[in-house]
Amino acid sequence: MDFQLSSLRLAQAAADKTPALLVLVQQGFEPGGDAISALIGRAIDAGDFSAEASKLLASYGAVRIAAARIVLAGIGDGSPPKVRKAVAAALAALKGANANTLTLCFAQAAAPAAIGAAVQALAEGSYRYDTTKSPGEDKDGLKLKQALIGAPEAEAARAEFDRAVGIATGVRMAREWANRPANHATPTLLAEAAQALAKLPRLRCKVLGPKEVAELGMGAFQAVARGSAEELRFIELRYQGAAKGEAPVVLVGKGITFDTGGISLKPAPEMDEMKFDMSGAASVLGVFRALAELKPALNVVGLIPACENMPDGRAIKPGDVVTSMSGQTIEILNTDAEGRLVLCDALSYAERFTPRAVIDIATLTGACVIALGGVRSGMFASDDALAEALHAAGEAALDPCWRLPLDEDYAEGLKTNFADVANVAGRPAGAVTAAKFLQRFAKAYTWAHLDIAGTAWKGGTAKGATGRPVGLLVHYLLGQMGAAASSPDGEPPAKPSSGKDGKRKSTKVVKGAKGGKTRD
Ligand code: BES
Ligand code: MN
Ligand code: ZN
Repeated sequence: MDFQLSSLRLAQAAADKTPALLVLVQQGFEPGGDAISALIGRAIDAGDFSAEASKLLASYGAVRIAAARIVLAGIGDGSPPKVRKAVAAALAALKGANANTLTLCFAQAAAPAAIGAAVQALAEGSYRYDTTKSPGEDKDGLKLKQALIGAPEAEAARAEFDRAVGIATGVRMAREWANRPANHATPTLLAEAAQALAKLPRLRCKVLGPKEVAELGMGAFQAVARGSAEELRFIELRYQGAAKGEAPVVLVGKGITFDTGGISLKPAPEMDEMKFDMSGAASVLGVFRALAELKPALNVVGLIPACENMPDGRAIKPGDVVTSMSGQTIEILNTDAEGRLVLCDALSYAERFTPRAVIDIATLTGACVIALGGVRSGMFASDDALAEALHAAGEAALDPCWRLPLDEDYAEGLKTNFADVANVAGRPAGAVTAAKFLQRFAKAYTWAHLDIAGTAWKGGTAKGATGRPVGLLVHYLLGQMGAAASSPDGEPPAKPSSGKDGKRKSTKVVKGAKGGKTRD
């Protein structure tokens, strides 16, 4: 999807020969003398429209308006969440329209964050999964390829706009990989996607297989992978945007490409959704895609332990004890608590980067879905400053999270007579006890854990990946720029790319290619 930003007033928008024009109207709208103002004024007087949030009016072939279709959408006070909702509703109203391009125009001056929210909503609403569908099968929905965003004095929002477009590219990649069925997104294919990504500037990728993982002593990760015919992969991505010596932020994504539960087998209903159990990994890929776009002056490492969790004659059994890379022994009381087993070894591996912070991202517990639903991701942190930064990033990205506790008393249930720690406690506070397990392996650095079990995908008829928390993570990372120790070679930190010449700049969001050659 191609986005452009342009300073645009209603009089100019009226002359735009676009197939679809979407006009966002904020409370306090004062009509000018142009045709769009006249239409808005008439509709308000007739009681058919108001600037109240999510009010919609769709018309076709309006007088003195060059656009074929025009949709008016109220955005209330113009806050980013209201803009996002209004744009989503307007896109739904255009669902049957035969248009691959549109103009979205703010009727009044818009805050930069509101313009970012419009980009986010357009990108979200125009993504279609079609990788495993026959060509031409999907006749539903608007096939948007291009969008022009206009507002009076839009140039002031250029940096926000570029950030939103970069994030949209990453979110699209995360959704694409999370949506792919497990037989089209094996650990090997995920690793190939990471390697393809590493062709972009400033990115590198290293992939470890079963032999290297055994040499590292990752006994917990290996234990999960044992039951599957698919080979495990351990993916290491690096983005270098700052001086070599600058400590990186490390992101660790749970990459269970399918979670049957193993010998502790899950029930059949909705088991297909466990193809999304690599959404943490997909979000790491998406963040790196966005970094390649935004080029911040930062160092970031991405780690993905990827494997399937299957029942088999060779699979781990309840009661088995394994030795993790950290040396701690783990009694596996439930083979369905596999995420923490692959993550704990990746957390030990992260120590070698002497990181500024390590953040793991995982569809870790059903308990987190019960606690927070699909609205906020669960967030745990060993450090208040990191917790606050993640919280603020989530709010700014419209990808919110909520901090949950890590009191030592929650770790009681993980005690066992047969190993240093058990991989499960009882049912109470399941999201917290999972985090307490991980914390044992994250003592060497500042650490946070995002439980995205409720937010990474939607079920029901809207079934599909959301691409969360790519927005939260990118906002957090960009906020870290300059916060790092100054670079030894004195290079000034680069701002995320922005149109320096002040002209219209178009930024591409590449659609997922097929057949292993995927670049996004
Ligand atoms: N991948 C699941 C968590 C999950 C469940 C995510 C439902 C989204 C929806 C994870 O591996 C798991 O199975 N967790 C168990 C842990 C339990 C055995 C302690 C769970 O939540 O039931
Ligand atoms: Mn599981
Ligand atoms: Zn799982």
